[in-house]
Amino acid sequence: MKLVTCGLPYANGKAHIGHLRTYIPADVYVRYLRLKGEDVIFVCGSDSHGTPIVVNAEQQGLEPKDLVDIYHEHFQKIFKELDIEFDYYGRTDSEYHHERTREIVQRLLDSGYIYPKEIELAYCPKCERFLPDRYVEGTCPYCGAIARGDECDQGCGKHLEPGEILEPRCKICGTPAEFRKQKHYYFRLSSFKNFLDGYISRLKGTENALNYAREWVRGELRDWCITRNLEWGVKFPGDEELVVYVWVDAPIGYISFTEKACERLGRNWEDIWIEGRAEIVHFIGLDIVYHHCIFWPAMLKGADYALPDAVVASGMVKVEGRKFSKSRGYVVWVEEDYLRSGLNPDYLRYYLVNYTSHQRDLNFSWHVFRDKVNNELIATLGNFIYRVMHFAWKNFGRVRMDVDEDVLERIRKAKETIEDAIARWEFKEASDAFMELAGFGNTFFQSLKPWEVIKSNRDEAERIIASALAVVRALSVLAYPVLPRSMRAVADTVGIDLENATLEAVLQIPDYVEVGKPDVPFERIDDEKMEELEGIMMERIKDGAGEGIKMSERIGIEDFQKLDIRIGKVLKAEKVKGSKKLMKLEIDIGNEIRQVVAGIAEEYEAEHLVGQHVVVLANIRPAKLMGIESDGMILAADVGGKPVLLKPERDVEPGVRVR
Ligand code: 2FM
Ligand code: ZN
Repeated sequence: MKLVTCGLPYANGKAHIGHLRTYIPADVYVRYLRLKGEDVIFVCGSDSHGTPIVVNAEQQGLEPKDLVDIYHEHFQKIFKELDIEFDYYGRTDSEYHHERTREIVQRLLDSGYIYPKEIELAYCPKCERFLPDRYVEGTCPYCGAIARGDECDQGCGKHLEPGEILEPRCKICGTPAEFRKQKHYYFRLSSFKNFLDGYISRLKGTENALNYAREWVRGELRDWCITRNLEWGVKFPGDEELVVYVWVDAPIGYISFTEKACERLGRNWEDIWIEGRAEIVHFIGLDIVYHHCIFWPAMLKGADYALPDAVVASGMVKVEGRKFSKSRGYVVWVEEDYLRSGLNPDYLRYYLVNYTSHQRDLNFSWHVFRDKVNNELIATLGNFIYRVMHFAWKNFGRVRMDVDEDVLERIRKAKETIEDAIARWEFKEASDAFMELAGFGNTFFQSLKPWEVIKSNRDEAERIIASALAVVRALSVLAYPVLPRSMRAVADTVGIDLENATLEAVLQIPDYVEVGKPDVPFERIDDEKMEELEGIMMERIKDGAGEGIKMSERIGIEDFQKLDIRIGKVLKAEKVKGSKKLMKLEIDIGNEIRQVVAGIAEEYEAEHLVGQHVVVLANIRPAKLMGIESDGMILAADVGGKPVLLKPERDVEPGVRVR
């Protein structure tokens, strides 16, 4: 028996392509295992706790639960539309999850693996509260980068313990924080070093995860503060003022959601999590390997639970060759960009498993997407399937399945390659194998020309089509985990019952096959569609914003203070010759007169600008525009790409600073 889990998405924002890099391959894996006849339970759910959710809800004037409701529903909808099918999709703010978490924490307390300790914590005297995790910002004690309370997210990436951050400031009001003493609880991670050493040497999974884990376990394992001053979360047993850290309760979701799945399936969850009778496989992103290979197994061991057998980590996602970034627009939102454009979910599933090996970084580009759909899915797979089915349906209807031995051998080889690849989490190899089989089918069909043979020898044509049809039937099974929607339709038309099919079945050839009227399995992506898809991203990149400004991308007041923004008064203005957009201005900014070139000539007349107040960023590096030096930048609102100049609400002397 296997239990497969996916990292729980925070119920804090919309699903994007980065999420799918974990969920789609995991779903593909589960579908292949089931085709192999394995008994699999597949669970996931929303991660409802943690400071990002609390802060985000607070900013939107919502209760954390309301925010979680919204995104929990959103993720469920997305998964359904992409045919990612969990046996249970829970949420960590459920009563049953809290109970399981408290039970495990209590066990760790009882066995002495959790202990209290008085520590100095960041406290905001203005907001009158302690500042857990993302409520605090300061300097990383390891690398000096600006960091948030629990993680050096812009520098060395280290996990930070409460109280570690230097020069802390309150993220909400910017006030320098004080340190105050408070009792918190620690998990004795340091006493698991020997255990983890052995455990990691046995752990299976992708090398990217295992390499990190081996490295970490060699270093120092420090005890880990596992309580926080928050209302939202799982109350710490014995001290209801505190909640457990989100990274303690989130992975316990794997257990509590298994309990729920088992309830549904009439199974016993303890077989899996207490008795250790299942192989437990975690699919995660590369950024959370530490939590899954170090913290989590130590917690399970301390509480006497079963241990995970494999950690499968996906590489990171880039968008159009750039680092994935929601704020800069290098993102693909699953719902509004992809699904709303009416694209077949199977295309995205194929792209995500076939672009590269699961461990490698994946680049998503709409051009590559189009090429993969048109030149691979359609030209190789779809055309072959459709031509064979159409020929068989039109000329025979019922085909006597006298199949060539060589063709059967090819099918067997594809099946074995896939089985072998799946066992190594190499989904690209698996999907390449069915594409190669389709390529072989194409050549077979093309070179034997049954449409000509049938004119003189109907039996021979039937033998050719029988072999080709055996390949189509095999493909409908072998490609099904990656392309469930499209292959279900194919399977139905060639008499395969996918609900009960196994990989073995691709080699079992019935005496006759009834072929129904086929539909074209895939639609081409034409140039017009391509422009539309690229346009969505271009717009967003231009605007530089995905979904509002994220906490991590905010700047502190000291960054803002680096900007020298001043009120200016336009003394002269003239259009730049040879340019439609550019205007050359002379602006009085108090102690000096600056020449500034601005792209406002389509909206403003030169003579109307003279004497006007403007807002000038004075300390931007000078630049040359059409060969003319521009020393400063005038600020404008960007209204659909057109500038609307800013000015002070009443007369102000040139040179006055804007703060
Ligand atoms: O990094 C994240 O998105 C976390 N919400 C993942 C949690 S996975 C687990 F441990 F439950
Ligand atoms: Zn750092």
